[in-house]
Amino acid sequence: MVLNAYIAYARIRHVGGQLIFLILFVKILTNEADISADEFLVTIYFTGFFMPATMQRPTGQSRKESASTSVLGGKHMKVAIIGAGTMGSGIAQAFAMCDEVETVYLCDIKEEFAQGGFSKIKKQLDKRVAKGKLDQASEDKVLSKVKTGLNTIATDPDLVVEAALENMKIKQDCFRDLQDNIVKNPDCIFASNTSSLSITEIGTGLSKPIIGMHFFNPAPVMKLVEVIKGANTPDDMVEKVKNIAVALGKSPVQVNEAAGFVVNRILVPMINEAICVYAAGTSDIAGIDTAMKLGCNHPMGPLELGDYIGLDIILAIMDVIFDETHDNKYAASPLLRKMVRAKHLGVKTGIGFYDYSNGGKVPVDQK
Ligand code: 3HC
Repeated sequence: MVLNAYIAYARIRHVGGQLIFLILFVKILTNEADISADEFLVTIYFTGFFMPATMQRPTGQSRKESASTSVLGGKHMKVAIIGAGTMGSGIAQAFAMCDEVETVYLCDIKEEFAQGGFSKIKKQLDKRVAKGKLDQASEDKVLSKVKTGLNTIATDPDLVVEAALENMKIKQDCFRDLQDNIVKNPDCIFASNTSSLSITEIGTGLSKPIIGMHFFNPAPVMKLVEVIKGANTPDDMVEKVKNIAVALGKSPVQVNEAAGFVVNRILVPMINEAICVYAAGTSDIAGIDTAMKLGCNHPMGPLELGDYIGLDIILAIMDVIFDETHDNKYAASPLLRKMVRAKHLGVKTGIGFYDYSNGGKVPVDQK
């Protein structure tokens, strides 16, 4: 009978059910309940077959893991990040650090680019281990979830977050290829991390709607995710993506489609204005950044932030907002355009408003 009891107990995957079983079983053994032990065991054994799957804990999962699956619809997620640059690798890190995520495919057009993204994640995590903010086993666990390669490895994700170049055709072609040739899961959500382009237009020609899931740099740290509803994005997809953002420890803000959405529509023209102020000779680089840090309590000055985001991205966003509005207040500064042509893009090329060579950070007008 003890063996039967054990078999019946093992069939119950729901924690509450296990507790009720133990209480009743003790009552039967001490003759406090009205049914025989064998009748009770047979009942429990067969109800196990009919218990809804959502009440059962998948075999091999701990109680903690099981509890955490509910946010993402009852299973651990597989996520594909397309583009392993600064944003792509940061987003991949944010997902890999989430307990509810099982696999992160970090993809790019060349294996070495994807591998480069992995190295960036490892470098960030190594720093946290060195600071004593993360233990080595946790770093290893996060890194073990990240699989690098070409887009073709992303055959079974539940979510794709595209963070490729800020170019409409590249994004459209990328989603078309994923839909037609690569992703086999029909329920996979297609999301774009575009910083300003139209979500509706990116989804042109796809058989399913897409959504904007816009992270902020550095993606593992910044709390905001803008969840952008395109013209065809259904409400339930918006809710799912907001829940995913919450599971990552982020605070989602739902926004409607508009050039630059909320943050970039306000932030990027401010950075452009700072470049105009510099070009007009009102102050030097350090002066402008210090004024905005101390005068507005911004963590970084606007020129420093432009370098950090990438001046090519700043220019692309200004051009998108200008093209959409035809309002001259969104005209990009000629100095910004000149710097982008010269590949003085900021941190990523080692020079922008600051010179980052030899690990330093010197305003270029002080050299
Ligand atoms: N990846 C992961 N973690 C990072 C990181 C990165 N690239 N950079 C910094 N961190 C972590 C650090 O490890 C540190 O973590 P800890 O507190 O647990 O030790 C924490 O962030 C703070 O970093 P630091 O102490 O090195 O430096 P600061 O305190 O100066 O903070 C900063 C750095 C978070 C970048 C801060 O300066 C900041 O918030 N700057 C403004 C950033 C911003 O405005 N981003 C939005 C840009 S707009 C955008 O991305 C939209 C796009 O579409 C253009």
